[in-house]
Amino acid sequence: MEKHSLDSFFKPKSIAVVGASRDSRKIGHAALKNILISDYKCDLYPINPHEKEILGIPCYPRLTDVPKPIDLVLICVPAKIVPQIMRDCVEKKVKHVIIISSGFSEAGNKELEEEIKEMIKDTKIRVLGPNTMGYKNASDGLDASFVFGVPRKGNLSLISQSGALGVGMIYLANNEFVGVSKVIGVGNKLDIDDDDLIEYFSRDPDTKVIGLYIEAVKDGRRFMNSIKACKKPVLVVKAGRSRAGARATASHTGSMAGSDRIYSAAIKQAGGIRCRDIVELFDIARALAGQPPMRGNRVGIVTNGGGLGILLADACEGNGLTVPKLSRETYEKIDKILPDLVKPNNPVDLVADAGFYRYEACTKILLEDKNIDGVIVASVHAGYARPREFTAAILKMVYEQKLHETHQKPILATWVGGREYEDLVYDLKSAGVPIYPSSWRTARAMWGLHMEGQRLKREGLIE
Ligand code: COA
Repeated sequence: MEKHSLDSFFKPKSIAVVGASRDSRKIGHAALKNILISDYKCDLYPINPHEKEILGIPCYPRLTDVPKPIDLVLICVPAKIVPQIMRDCVEKKVKHVIIISSGFSEAGNKELEEEIKEMIKDTKIRVLGPNTMGYKNASDGLDASFVFGVPRKGNLSLISQSGALGVGMIYLANNEFVGVSKVIGVGNKLDIDDDDLIEYFSRDPDTKVIGLYIEAVKDGRRFMNSIKACKKPVLVVKAGRSRAGARATASHTGSMAGSDRIYSAAIKQAGGIRCRDIVELFDIARALAGQPPMRGNRVGIVTNGGGLGILLADACEGNGLTVPKLSRETYEKIDKILPDLVKPNNPVDLVADAGFYRYEACTKILLEDKNIDGVIVASVHAGYARPREFTAAILKMVYEQKLHETHQKPILATWVGGREYEDLVYDLKSAGVPIYPSSWRTARAMWGLHMEGQRLKREGLIE
């Protein structure tokens, strides 16, 4: 039987919360309240056998008492009552269910999960969870979760096997000025799995980049095929690399971490981008959201500090990128800009007193060079440095890049400095400029843009 489309899962016309409660300490209260304060237009039904109304909304004793059809049900009652509620869901022919309750396979209670699987086998119902936070859909303004946190609206969709990390990622994304379309906790993946969501987000017009935190996948082949078929970049953080991590995975969501090397190879082969942790995921997501992909792997580096230039070159080459020697033409152009005491190289050392003009002119020369596919602009807050001029030059170039589409090459920035620098970096971040406080993180973000360029080339979408 064909299952319901996830369209009505993320944009339901009607929602019921089973286990809705007047008690503000309970999850069933928070879930109902989150939907209410979303200001999302839909019919809303609290379900509780003992109450007449909750938060001003009329209550029904059972799902089957609701007179109208229901697109989405949130279950917030203890695990042992869940099968009984699921039977009502089947009888009521609801389209989708989110089982927030824990106490299933992650607690060794596999039979309960199997019972629910069996119940929905020959129905069109889709189930998220159990043991999930639900989801937040910032694009459509719906919060179908019980957790706090309002994501900044944008185009990154996040799938997390850990509810707590899913919430943490919302705050981190806000901090990093990364806009989110949807964030969803998949929990124990009884039915709706990462591959279903990758397929959905691949078609979702509000999603541009997909990010995943996974501990294990149920069907490796389907998972890889969904990444391969995806029309958007897929960033994957796969946890449980170590023996201790794998042990923790088993008790967290009841799953097996599997061989890490196989995961790495398979994600790469499918065209996904494997990130070491969630900070790296956001670093790359920020670059993908604000910058064009890298068409090759050749990086130009501009810096006011020779040491930082070397660190950046090492980090780039350590990630499969190259930092080529300058062409004769570029050398001559840059030679006219630099003070007499230095000769052009790549990294281009602008020397310690570099100001707006030197930064802008040299970066532009590198961007115009056909042997360079992306540029990193770096600044160390040394004695003579002019941080304000460094950030102003980057802002100007990134605005020009967007305004005139002059060159389809990425610009990333790096800084090393203290408090005085932070406000300026904040301004850049809020304007969508990918700037990082470490040479390694910058190189990894550039590598992510290179991987995306490779994917688009394979798809025939860029030359
Ligand atoms: N239909 C509807 N409501 C029912 C019901 C039924 N058949 N049976 C009981 N209820 C009501 C209860 O009366 C209660 O409402 P009340 O406060 O008005 O009395 C409400 O449902 C909740 O039931 P309660 O027994 O109080 O459970 P709880 O709120 O303490 O805990 C869970 C329920 C689901 C939150 C809890 O079992 C749980 O799993 N917590 C962990 C959730 C989690 O962390 N998920 C993963 C996140 S990543």
